[in-house]
Amino acid sequence: MNVLVIGSGGREHALVWALHRSPTVRHVYCAPGNAGIAGLAECVDVSPGDVPALINFIQLKAVGLTVIGPEVPLVAGLADELRAAGHPVFGPGRAAAQLEGSKTFAKEFMARHGIPTAGFRSFTTPAEALGFVQSDRWPESYRVVKADGLAAGKGVVVCHSREEVQAAMERMMVNRAFGPAGEHVVLEEVLEGEELSVMVLTDGETLLPLPTTQDHKRVFDGDEGPNTGGMGAYGPVPQVSKELWDRIEKEILGRFRDGLRRENLDYRGVIYVGIMMTPAGPKVLEFNVRFGDPETQVLLPLVSSDWAKLFLAAAEARLKDATLRLRKGTAVTVVMASGGYPGDYEKGKAIEGLDVVAKNKNVIVFHSGTERMGSEPYKTAGGRVLAVTGLGDTLAIARENAYAAVQKITFEGAHYRKDIAVKGLQD
Ligand code: AMP
Ligand code: GLY
Repeated sequence: MNVLVIGSGGREHALVWALHRSPTVRHVYCAPGNAGIAGLAECVDVSPGDVPALINFIQLKAVGLTVIGPEVPLVAGLADELRAAGHPVFGPGRAAAQLEGSKTFAKEFMARHGIPTAGFRSFTTPAEALGFVQSDRWPESYRVVKADGLAAGKGVVVCHSREEVQAAMERMMVNRAFGPAGEHVVLEEVLEGEELSVMVLTDGETLLPLPTTQDHKRVFDGDEGPNTGGMGAYGPVPQVSKELWDRIEKEILGRFRDGLRRENLDYRGVIYVGIMMTPAGPKVLEFNVRFGDPETQVLLPLVSSDWAKLFLAAAEARLKDATLRLRKGTAVTVVMASGGYPGDYEKGKAIEGLDVVAKNKNVIVFHSGTERMGSEPYKTAGGRVLAVTGLGDTLAIARENAYAAVQKITFEGAHYRKDIAVKGLQD
């Protein structure tokens, strides 16, 4: 089978890596891909937004499965368009992708199906939103302001006072800091606890949960500084007890599946459930309708089953016959970012040390934002540049492997967190 991956980041490099290893895959294509991906797949210069060109390419190359990485083409309905043309796709259609594309839709879906989440209010005009916060109906705990639409992971502000809540609302709704994504907002109760990422393969009927992971969203050690797309991740998360997992399955995943059924939502792909482990139990922070980045760089190496078969089974709604086999051990991914990220950063810095690290079989380097001219050295081309995954029997060993590799890779301005997976070592 030939496969096509849509996207260009570290997550897509991991998807391409997994598909390239599959005995059932002959050729991997990636649109548009990046310099690291080009080592394993044929990168094709077709934009994910150009549906006729994609369909043309799929037919020309006899692609038997398309895996859509990022949320933007999913929310735009790419999966529906490819399916309508008769092609198997891993990724939900436009209607179900609203679980990520609209925070209001997601919160109302959770409310309809009894899925535990933070209390909330949705607003469609600034007058309504600001009026509520200025009134005595405003509960002091409602201090998380979320842009309703897609904002590349930047549309959430956790505030500390009424004034901050108002300012965040004004920035989104009046000044349009996130463009149309902030036209409507959700105001949410602050939840306290540790976060957990749960990714589940599903075809709407069968749920195949992948190992749990924990992301590190803040840019600096000790969870300080602004949010980023994710500076590192590890899995499985040892703090997830059997009791907690049972609650996640029953109260969140089971009700999620029932909700899909009742609302007739076609979901063939992966659902990413961002959870806060609060003292009152697990509560959903957000749904994403795709794999996490960098969680995918942790997860894919932890599974020994043929990923192409799993993706195709989900795409064809046959997951009940699929098996998910896990490798023994753990994985830790450390993101190396450009100086200045998540703010402004420079590009075009030469990356050294990749060849040395490539010899270590306990390390996989996924490229997030790199470019290369011919056989010249790789250069930086994005905020997140590399995602370095270390494998090991224990988290401590996986962590050592990841950091030993990170220390051998250099580029001007490189920065990375030194405390990825430390929380997992504490118990
Ligand atoms: P989201 O995109 O909704 O997951 O939000 C991004 C990040 O904001 C989450 O990973 C949390 O760190 C934080 N966050 C979101 N909602 C809440 C909440 N209700 N209480 C506390 N923190 C939150
Ligand atoms: N790592 C967080 C995300 O992919 O949304």
